[in-house]
Amino acid sequence: MTAASEPLLRVEGLQVHFPIRRGLFFDRTVGHVRAVDGVDLAIDRGTTYGLVGESGCGKSTLGRAVLRLVEPTAGRVVFDGTDVASLGGEPLRHMRRRMQMVFQDPLGSLDPRQDVESLLSEPLQAHGLGGGKAGIATRVRELLDAVGLPAAAMRRYPHEFSGGQRQRIGIARAISLEPDLLIADEPVSALDVSVQAQVVNLLEELQERLGLTYLVIAHDLAVVRHISDVVGVMYLGSLVEQAPADALYDEPLHPYTRALMSAVPVPDPVVEERRARILLAGDLPSPANPPSGCRFHTRCPWRQETRCDDEAPVLRELAPGHLVSCHWAEEIRDGVLRPKSAEEVAATQGVSVRATGADGGFEPDALLQGVDEPIERR
Ligand SMILES: Nc1ncnc2c1ncn2[C@@H]1O[C@H](COP(=O)(O)OP(=O)(O)OP(=O)(O)O)[C@@H](O)[C@H]1O
Ligand code: SF4
Ligand SMILES: [Mg+2]
Repeated sequence: MTAASEPLLRVEGLQVHFPIRRGLFFDRTVGHVRAVDGVDLAIDRGTTYGLVGESGCGKSTLGRAVLRLVEPTAGRVVFDGTDVASLGGEPLRHMRRRMQMVFQDPLGSLDPRQDVESLLSEPLQAHGLGGGKAGIATRVRELLDAVGLPAAAMRRYPHEFSGGQRQRIGIARAISLEPDLLIADEPVSALDVSVQAQVVNLLEELQERLGLTYLVIAHDLAVVRHISDVVGVMYLGSLVEQAPADALYDEPLHPYTRALMSAVPVPDPVVEERRARILLAGDLPSPANPPSGCRFHTRCPWRQETRCDDEAPVLRELAPGHLVSCHWAEEIRDGVLRPKSAEEVAATQGVSVRATGADGGFEPDALLQGVDEPIERR
C-alpha cells in the first residue's frame, strides 16, 4: 500500500541522452544530445504540475520518459510507489494504462480511418474493459458526454471535427481507461485562442470530477499559470526554477524565468505600455554541447565574473517550495546586482540580440528596449 501523502509521481535525477551517430558504414557515436539532463520533480495526487520552457529544452522527452516511451539514460521514475523501470510485460502494460497522454496535434494522433466510436472503444477492448458490446457502447456515450460532445459524434470521423472538438476526442480517449495521471503535451497550442480556454476548462473540470493528476507541458506561460498548482521552468534539459504557480508568477527568481515572464503580454494596456521586456542575447545553445557552469550564462543579463561560467548551480530552496538554480538569486531578488543590457551580453558573447518569448520568438520592435526598468507584476 502506498501512503496517500506520497506523491503520485516522483522523477529523480532523470537523464535522457540521445546518441548522435555518424558514418555510413561504421556507425559511430560522436556525441550525445542531452535532452533531459538531471531532473527531479514530484507531483502530488489530484494536482497539476505545469512544465514550461523554450522549444527544444526537453519537455516532451521528459514526458515520454515518464511513460517509458523512451528509455531513460539514468535516474528513476517512481509512479505510485513503484519504480517504472522495474516493470515489464503485463505489470508495465497495467502501469501504462494508469498513465495516459494527450497530444498537441489530435489529428495526427487519431487514426483518420476510424470513426469516433471505434477510436474510443479500441482502448477498452484492448484492455478487456467495458463489459461486452453493449457495455462498451454505453461507456463511449459516457465519455463523449464527459468531454461535451453529442452522442451523434460516434459515427463521425476525425477530419469532420474542428480542432477543439478533435482535442476533446483525444481527451476522451485518454480518460477512457480511467487513468490516474494525464500527461498533456502542449494540449492547446494548436488551437485558436478562443477555443484554448474551453479545453483548459474541460481539463480542470475532469480533474475535479475524476481526481486526475496532471503533468501539463506548454510553452505558453499563460496557459500553465491558469491550470497549475506548481510550475517548473526548464532550460536546456534541467529545471532552473520550480514554485507554486502564484509564487512563480508574482516573483520569478531565476533570470531565465524573469525573461520568459517579461514576454507575457499584460491585458491592461497602460501596464503593457510601460512593461519592460528582458531581452536575451543569442539563441538557445545546442543540448549536444551545453555551456559549462551555469547553462544560462551565455545569455544571462546578470552573469557574474565568478562562478557563473564554471560552477553549475544546484536547485535550492529560497522560500517554501520555491526552488531556484542560480548562484546569485538572493542578490538579484534584492536588487543588489543589476542586469546588463542584452547588447552588452551579446557583445561579450559575440552574438546578436533576440527578444525572448516563451517560444523563443523574435520581435524586432523590442530590440531597442533595455532591461533597467522594473518588471511590472501582474
Ligand atoms: N528521438 C530523438 N533522437 C535524437 N534527438 C532527439 C530525439 N527526440 C528529441 N531529441 C532532441 O532532444 C531535444 C529536446 O527535444 P524535446 O522534443 O524534448 O523538446 P521540447 O521542449 O518538447 O520542444 P518543443 O517545445 O519544440 O516541443 C531537442 O534538441 C531534440 O532535437
Ligand atoms: S548562475 Fe549566473 S549565469 Fe546562471 S542564472 Fe544565475 S546569474 Fe545568471
Ligand atoms: Mg515538445
